[in-house]
Amino acid sequence: MGMITIPPETSLPQQPSSEQARAWCRQLEEGNILFFPRTPIALAEEDLRFLLTLEQTSSGLHKNLAYKPQRDEISGADMKGADAAAGERLHRILREYSRRVTEFLESFLSPYQSHWQLDYGSFRPQEEQGRDLPLRRRNDLMHTDAFPTRPTHGARILRFFNNLHPTKTRDWITGEPFGALAPQFAPQQIALPREQSTLTRVTAAAACNLGLGRVLPALKRSPYDDFMMRFHNFLKENATYQAQGKREPWSFPPGSSWMVYTDMVPHAVLAGQYALEQTYLVSPEAMVAPEHAPLNVLQAMTGLPLV
Ligand code: SIN
Ligand code: FE
Repeated sequence: MGMITIPPETSLPQQPSSEQARAWCRQLEEGNILFFPRTPIALAEEDLRFLLTLEQTSSGLHKNLAYKPQRDEISGADMKGADAAAGERLHRILREYSRRVTEFLESFLSPYQSHWQLDYGSFRPQEEQGRDLPLRRRNDLMHTDAFPTRPTHGARILRFFNNLHPTKTRDWITGEPFGALAPQFAPQQIALPREQSTLTRVTAAAACNLGLGRVLPALKRSPYDDFMMRFHNFLKENATYQAQGKREPWSFPPGSSWMVYTDMVPHAVLAGQYALEQTYLVSPEAMVAPEHAPLNVLQAMTGLPLV
């Protein structure tokens, strides 16, 4: 486990060979970070400057901003009046970023092409060090990712980042991947998932069909999703793990990019400001090394189908 540096010449627009692309998928699936010292998704100079000064000029901007590609919407920016033009520009930048990362990954990780669902993107303008957030929302505590309102039903959470800061690194720590970690805590400290009753499965499916999934996220979750959510909370709340768990530090320099399966690699961001990020939900069927996927790890531990 660790970081694999992609030499700049490999991230040029030309299509990598399918063996090479498969090897990168495998490295990700084994829990490595793929690191691009110079991002393949560089912003235009004036867009970069705009993002770096947005906070000072826009009163409606407070937190992380989400871009929802499916609906082509931004949320988190409540921009009115003079800020409306800034809002429009921000929207365009996030839309283009999302599109360019997707285009790049369709070739760079070609085995996943058309096997993923484009999830949210985000702009993260705040200094991460010392952010005052409720414990379960803190990103400076080690955790694996799970989304409370967007269960994945076994799909993998792959995230691509850019550090936009002109001078400061974005500092992360990462820990042992899910396959090594889950058996250390489950089932003694955190209950393993149980098979869903037929009634729950049918009710959940009906709720989804009626469009109630949004208001009843817990119902929409599979036993897998439920476990992944509990595991996220468990890690953040486990003071011993936070203090003594194995960890490795990484500093992502200005102008770099990296990607990682954040559902399997515990991570925390300790410092850094101004990042862009795009998330993909990659179908379990597209895995080139499926034995490492959290769903398969859990199904092997329980002997049960969990989605
Ligand atoms: C996270 O997924 O925990 C956030 C990482 C970051 O913003 O660098
Ligand atoms: Fe995270």
